[in-house]
Amino acid sequence: MLGKESPMRTLALAVLSTMVSAVLVAPAAEALPDGLALTPPMGFNNWNTTACRAEFNEAMVKGIADIFVNKGLKDAGYEYVNIDDCWAEKSRDAQGKLVPNKTRFPNGIKAVADYVHSKGLKFGIYTSAGTKTCNKDNGFPGGLNHEESDAQQFASWGVDYLKYDNCNNQGVDAKQRYRKMRDALKKTGRPIVFSLCEWGQNKPWEWASDTGHLWRTTGDINDTWPRTMDIYEKNVVLDSYAGPGHWNDPDMLEVGNGKMSATQYRSHFSLWAIMAAPLLIGSDLRKVSADTFTILENKDVIALDQDKLGKQGKRIRTTGKSGVDVIVKPLANGDKAVALFNKSGSTQTISTSLSEIGFSGPAQLKDLWTKSVRTTTGAISASVPSHATVVYRVSKSDGGPRPTPPAGTTDLSEFEATSSTNGWGPVEIDKSVGSQAAGDGKTLTINGVTHSKGFGAHAASTIEFYVGKKCSSVTVDVGVDDEVAAGRGSVVFEVFADSTKVADSGRLTGTDPAKKLTASLSEAENLRLVVTDAGDGINSDHGDWASPRITCS
Ligand code: GLA
Repeated sequence: MLGKESPMRTLALAVLSTMVSAVLVAPAAEALPDGLALTPPMGFNNWNTTACRAEFNEAMVKGIADIFVNKGLKDAGYEYVNIDDCWAEKSRDAQGKLVPNKTRFPNGIKAVADYVHSKGLKFGIYTSAGTKTCNKDNGFPGGLNHEESDAQQFASWGVDYLKYDNCNNQGVDAKQRYRKMRDALKKTGRPIVFSLCEWGQNKPWEWASDTGHLWRTTGDINDTWPRTMDIYEKNVVLDSYAGPGHWNDPDMLEVGNGKMSATQYRSHFSLWAIMAAPLLIGSDLRKVSADTFTILENKDVIALDQDKLGKQGKRIRTTGKSGVDVIVKPLANGDKAVALFNKSGSTQTISTSLSEIGFSGPAQLKDLWTKSVRTTTGAISASVPSHATVVYRVSKSDGGPRPTPPAGTTDLSEFEATSSTNGWGPVEIDKSVGSQAAGDGKTLTINGVTHSKGFGAHAASTIEFYVGKKCSSVTVDVGVDDEVAAGRGSVVFEVFADSTKVADSGRLTGTDPAKKLTASLSEAENLRLVVTDAGDGINSDHGDWASPRITCS
């Protein structure tokens, strides 16, 4: 009977597991009735990039507010510009009031808050539920026993968000300390989001939903993969405690701080979003790379985080700390988000199914990083590189009319492919293929000529579009991208209307100028763009479909 369960033991285990889950999912207290943070807060906090260093000052905070507006972050939903520890002078004034540090904030905190508000954004501040804040060298004044005075001062400065830390708490009960500040904030009459930062020490998920709008579940994050993973593992199991107005907080983002790879940052961002975590940018946006903005501004991923249903994604399957995870997040419109996360050191195929995620097919799967769309009647599966996360939005597909490109002549790269395969990382949209990570390409360039639209592919590659007999022709400039080294790259581009080949570039190498292909598509249901290796043993086959234009009725 080795490996077989006795019926009694199975029953006992079932009863035990029901009891365990009853304990684990004990209903949390009601959320605060103030209507704040109905979706997880989004914004910025300086701590992960500056800590207490001198570059944390008025110019930085104003600069971040400017970038929120100028670089599209405000439009993407980022709202709070928050300052962390080290903003104050070491001593209170003679009246017991907090004093802004004269070097960092020579015009005071209100002036900075006013500036942030003038941009249509909100402003947040920090102190500790202790006698002093956490900074060891200086120990700035904390809020313990000064709750009402400090809350009034924050409100008078126009503070919209308070992060309340846990250092130097004198052993006073956490519930008592945090609720005292909650009450003091309420008394000001100003709506202030209240963020508890007691690092999960007193299991705040069990008692803090009537105390604050979010609570840290762990100690501090840092810009390393192992630490990000420790935090993820602790936070991912707390899904039953999160909801509108009361969120688990696995700490602020490290995206853009430079010590993790682009793949790891995309996973960090995807996982935080599917866990409905606050999205507080923790990098100095004045200095980050363009890639950082591409990650932080992925609106499809942000939409998962900000979904109004307010459910934290649930991990439905894991093969352990260095294995693979499947996480599912139900969404307000009935869609579901699915993350296939590979924690291991090598590429893995991760599979789930519509029935496992509780979705009746047929369904449309949209990959929220590559933007490709396909339909499925059951399987949800992807080959996922080490430390990468594939995120799908799964929506109902009724088999009804499928979208085709708009009437007129338009950029094909604006339209979603139904599927794509590629020989080196994913097909890139409006960029060369670059390296193996999604989004890491450069401007499409063939023989010195740049193109703002198109696809960066690598042989062997196919990109397929549903055109539903609506489109008459496609024109495109094809060639090997200049990003390959001299003498490298040799490919053939082919265009298919259903199974008929309608254009063929012949062999093109890295030294050839772009070749213009024009193909007729009459009556085709599907358009397929194919790049093949020219079969001459020359590698680095980076093939660009530059400025593809499609004409449809
Ligand atoms: C604690 C918090 C951090 C940060 C620092 C500031 O460590 O958990 O997020 O606020 O204090 O000193």
